[in-house]
Amino acid sequence: LELLILAGGLSHERDVSLRSGRRVAEALRALGMSVSVRDVDAGLLGYLESARPDVVWPILHGATGEDGSIRDLLELVGVPYVGTDSAGSRIAWSKPVSKTLMARAGARTPEFASLPQSLFREVGAQAVLDIVLDQLALPLVVKPAKGGSALGVSVVTDAKELPRAMVTCFSYGENALLERVIVGTELAVSVVDVGDGPVALPAVEISTEGAYDYDARYNPGRTEYFAPARLTPEAERAAADLAVLAHRTLGLSHLSRTDMIVDANGVPWFLEVNVAPGMTETSLLPQAAQAGARPLGDLYRSIVAAARV
Ligand code: DAL
Ligand code: MG
Repeated sequence: LELLILAGGLSHERDVSLRSGRRVAEALRALGMSVSVRDVDAGLLGYLESARPDVVWPILHGATGEDGSIRDLLELVGVPYVGTDSAGSRIAWSKPVSKTLMARAGARTPEFASLPQSLFREVGAQAVLDIVLDQLALPLVVKPAKGGSALGVSVVTDAKELPRAMVTCFSYGENALLERVIVGTELAVSVVDVGDGPVALPAVEISTEGAYDYDARYNPGRTEYFAPARLTPEAERAAADLAVLAHRTLGLSHLSRTDMIVDANGVPWFLEVNVAPGMTETSLLPQAAQAGARPLGDLYRSIVAAARV
């Protein structure tokens, strides 16, 4: 079986994707699997048609990788691939859309407003921010409606900081999500779905001094992780149920990772779900697998096998 991993791409998360791709390739090669790794460029279509890999694993973070467009291409070529189809990816990639669907499915998700940059141009920044502050109380998290690795994200505690946070956010995309802050424990729950339905891996708890930003995510030692998380059995079950609900509700396949906050009452609040979760040495899904005593190579091989059928 020849597996092609796609890693790199032109998103803001290119470096993370290269690291993720390399780690997965190493784990699978150690089991004797034949794996090649390729970047994404204009030659990809021709390459896929001539190389005809048995399975493709798009380990591409950010737009193109997670917004469904590369998956459309893979469907066009007719090659089996790991992960969610293009329709599900598009839904998961948009935080306002995935939050709305999850709320309709009965999940809690922090109150939010979704604001296009064009609105600021049309009605003026102050008018927009006044309306937002009228409806959503500070503190707020400002983040790109579509994005990853905490790029462009700010926590705003004072209204004076809001304009700067909006500018930062809009440098990553046309739409901003302003979300109420939920105080609690930040958790990530990975789901593996390789034939017997979606199964949650142990929750991973994230503990940082400051924000869980890009540096805290990818520099070993900057963040403390607890896997499994320090939760009551009830909260742990609720977190696992929320991740499985996201996987099912949004139509995801093979693997996903839901990020959430568990509040003081043990209630998990949905933040977002990732169709191409990070696979680097500091990423959450690999830590969850290790906490579940699951050898990584073995887990990845089962994911590839599920994609092939
Ligand atoms: N967007 C990064 C890769 C993650 O969710 O892990
Ligand atoms: Mg993400």
